[in-house]
Amino acid sequence: MKQFKTVLVTGGAGFIGSHVIRRLLKEHADMHVVNLDLLTYAGNLENLRDLESNERYAFIKGDIGDTALIQQLFDQHDFDAVVHLAAESHVDRSIENPMAFLETNIIGTATLLHAAKNAWLGDGKDASNRCFYHVSTDEVYGSLGAEGVFSEETPYDPRSPYSSSKASSDHLVRAWHHTYGLPIVISNCSNNYGAHQFPEKLIPLMIRNVRDQRPLPVYGEGLNIRDWLWVEDHASAIDTILHNGTSGRTYNIGGLNEWRNIDLVHALIREVDAAMGRPEGTSLALITFVTDRAGHDMRYAIDASRIESELGWQPSIQFEDGLKETVRWYLDNAEWMDSVTSGNYQQYYETMYGNR
Ligand code: NAD
Ligand code: TYD
Repeated sequence: MKQFKTVLVTGGAGFIGSHVIRRLLKEHADMHVVNLDLLTYAGNLENLRDLESNERYAFIKGDIGDTALIQQLFDQHDFDAVVHLAAESHVDRSIENPMAFLETNIIGTATLLHAAKNAWLGDGKDASNRCFYHVSTDEVYGSLGAEGVFSEETPYDPRSPYSSSKASSDHLVRAWHHTYGLPIVISNCSNNYGAHQFPEKLIPLMIRNVRDQRPLPVYGEGLNIRDWLWVEDHASAIDTILHNGTSGRTYNIGGLNEWRNIDLVHALIREVDAAMGRPEGTSLALITFVTDRAGHDMRYAIDASRIESELGWQPSIQFEDGLKETVRWYLDNAEWMDSVTSGNYQQYYETMYGNR
């Protein structure tokens, strides 16, 4: 197992990044984490409130595309690993405003790679104990029909501005490995769910709307399929790959847990209504079928046998239990939900759904 003393985590104030930082600090008593995050609409320091007094944790507000800042951070700290999660992450926003995705996901990643290469390679330096870890998505593989799963050998076929920007960044990371010898790993994970996810993504958006008795916008006929993984299992997989993965290798992460959107919305209605003491079926009438997402990928499903057989990782929790816990968290943390949606969320929401 490799050991890392000073780790730069990017995007740590976001949904998955906050779980990753908490996990790394808890599992590795000698590790220091520097969290670099621009605090876009999706980044929220509330997600890390419990770590503020931790001496092994520091927060820097900044842009991964800011060359001078990144250079300064690499000069200041002897990072032995970068865990790169910062990204524009929502497909619907990428359809509305693709350029922000290209800036952050592609140029931002290249800026980090360039700085890591300058700091870690050249002049006889030994980079074998370093690691640039790129956190990516299964959406780079495209869209599946009724059969089949994505393996690490599946050819890339991204179809949204979001997934093509993530595919581009994956290619850049591999190029820095092959061309310059930068030690890297990449993981491609399926859809995550759990606490602290910004309520523009399906699960927290539906929980919020059932809670508030607002319409539940289901795209198309709700027949698209996603493969859901609990965010803390994603964090444990990232921890495992960072410490035990082979440099240059890619690992798919998933929980063998496929759901049609409409079935998931029904499950969420059941859970939220029950938790709020309403009679079963109360919120079914809120389901509103809206115009489908442009270019909507039909189905994602992950073959996670490599990470299981090579690194011994498995998801820890059953979906039904994870979903219950997730619903409980959002209902118990109404303040969080209301504070993250207090900015221009309403305007965003109306742009997305107002005209459908
Ligand atoms: P998120 O949108 O919740 O968080 C992204 C974070 O990045 C935010 O804190 C934001 O402030 C920060 N950020 C954005 N632009 C930045 C910039 N230019 N400089 C510095 N920080 C910036 O996203 P998430 O769901 O936590 O996803 C994290 C990573 O995991 C992304 O790379 C995403 O592609 C990948 N991923 C997500 C999922 C999922 O289901 N959410 C699945 C697989 C992979
Ligand atoms: P999302 O959470 O945006 O993740 P991704 O598109 O990256 O998989 O969406 C998950 C699925 O839910 C996707 O098929 C689109 C669908 N969806 C809706 O039907 N209604 C919604 O309001 C949202 C946000 C998503």
